Amino acid sequence: MHTTLAFDIYGTLIDPYAIATTLEKHVGGNAALFAQVWRDKQLEYSFRRGLMGVYKNFSVCTRHALDYTCQHIGVVIPALSKQELMDQYRLLPAYPDVQSALEKLKLAGLRMYAFSNGLPDDLEHLLGQACVNTYLMDIVSVHDVQSFKPDPAVYAYFLEQAKASEADTWLVSSNPFDIIGAGAAGWNTAWLQRDQKTVFDPWEFKPTVIVKDLSELPNIVLA
Ligand code: 2OP
Repeated sequence: MHTTLAFDIYGTLIDPYAIATTLEKHVGGNAALFAQVWRDKQLEYSFRRGLMGVYKNFSVCTRHALDYTCQHIGVVIPALSKQELMDQYRLLPAYPDVQSALEKLKLAGLRMYAFSNGLPDDLEHLLGQACVNTYLMDIVSVHDVQSFKPDPAVYAYFLEQAKASEADTWLVSSNPFDIIGAGAAGWNTAWLQRDQKTVFDPWEFKPTVIVKDLSELPNIVLA
């Protein structure tokens, strides 16, 4: 049996809210709020596009969500600065617990993958500059499926790509909707509750385990 770990990227290994630092020069004290609305809308657009079957890649969802957020907050950000913000989205940092946890897991021989809504090229760039790619066997993007998490088709596609089975695969994600999607597909799931205030949706699909920090993961999956 080979245990396979599929790591979600945005919000799990890579911090999308770090964009607030760049946003400060455009929206001042509204930067944290802007970053939250932007992220929520980006995900909402991916859900809606997946459901409607009108796929546009995740970068388009991010850009449309940026335009929405400017209008919602009531701020005008010039086109060039919007492009800078989009470029910055490819330079987001890894969370501080990522390197040491992934190093331990890799040393233990686990098969680790990135599994994300993001475009392959964006993910490669993002994970390379954050020095996370060296721990991963491969990057699996939903782009080939032309749909988004939590469409069951993208979880099936991951298993195909990783040549893995549901029973031996774990999704590690901070996003409850992603954990529920993988759980419904029969995977093991580790919900990373990065923010203690995040509420897990009270559905019939519960995470297999809950961790507060990635440092807890090696003991759980290697047990
Ligand atoms: C990801 O797929 C859902 O943003 C999350 O990386």
